[in-house]
Amino acid sequence: MKDLVAVDKNWGIGKNNDLLIRIPEDVKFFKEETTGNIVFMGKNTLDSLPGGRPLKNRLNIVLTSKDIKDENIVVVHSVQEALKEIGKYNPDRVYNIGGAQIFREMLDYVEYSLITKIEAEFDADVYYPNLDKLDNWEVIEESEEREYEGIKYKFLIYRNKNFKR
Ligand SMILES: NC(=O)c1ccc[n+]([C@@H]2O[C@H](COP(=O)([O-])OP(=O)(O)OC[C@H]3O[C@@H](n4cnc5c(N)ncnc54)[C@H](OP(=O)(O)O)[C@@H]3O)[C@@H](O)[C@H]2O)c1
Repeated sequence: MKDLVAVDKNWGIGKNNDLLIRIPEDVKFFKEETTGNIVFMGKNTLDSLPGGRPLKNRLNIVLTSKDIKDENIVVVHSVQEALKEIGKYNPDRVYNIGGAQIFREMLDYVEYSLITKIEAEFDADVYYPNLDKLDNWEVIEESEEREYEGIKYKFLIYRNKNFKR
């Protein structure tokens, strides 16, 4: 499983259950990576999607303590149940798309994190773990710097050297 996340300078990822910014190239990257694959998310992130609806052309797995009646969503109620469900698929095809709580809970089970690092500071209320401070995470790929409306950003791939299978 891979995390797919956009972070700001302070590793902030959202505010008021919405994203901090939408960078078109990043939105495109998200779509290209996930389409035809499996997306795993927490209930708040599901609620933050347009109309609170699952993403089209992807298998949506949602972690919640509640019940969701939606034939397009596979509902799981615990981390263990989530891992069992996710384990049915090729790990290369499974994307953990957040949010903050889910990223924290699943971090040990994630081998790669595809991070869009935005070189700006936003007023965030939820954060991704700062991987630069964790010994077991290393940067294995880093793109050139890009810019959108004066905001610089990069695509990075981090690898978890001792993730749990
Ligand atoms: N920048 C990015 O790339 C990015 C990506 C994704 C999300 N975000 C942002 O992140 C924010 C949402 O993150 P969040 O931390 O508030 O929420 P979240 O991680 O999306 O979802 C949290 C919810 O998931 C359920 N849950 C989590 N762990 C559970 C467990 N062990 N068992 C059962 N249910 C569990 C609970 O839902 P119930 O209350 O229904 O039980 C919980 O309230 C938004 O601002 C969103 O825009 C940013």
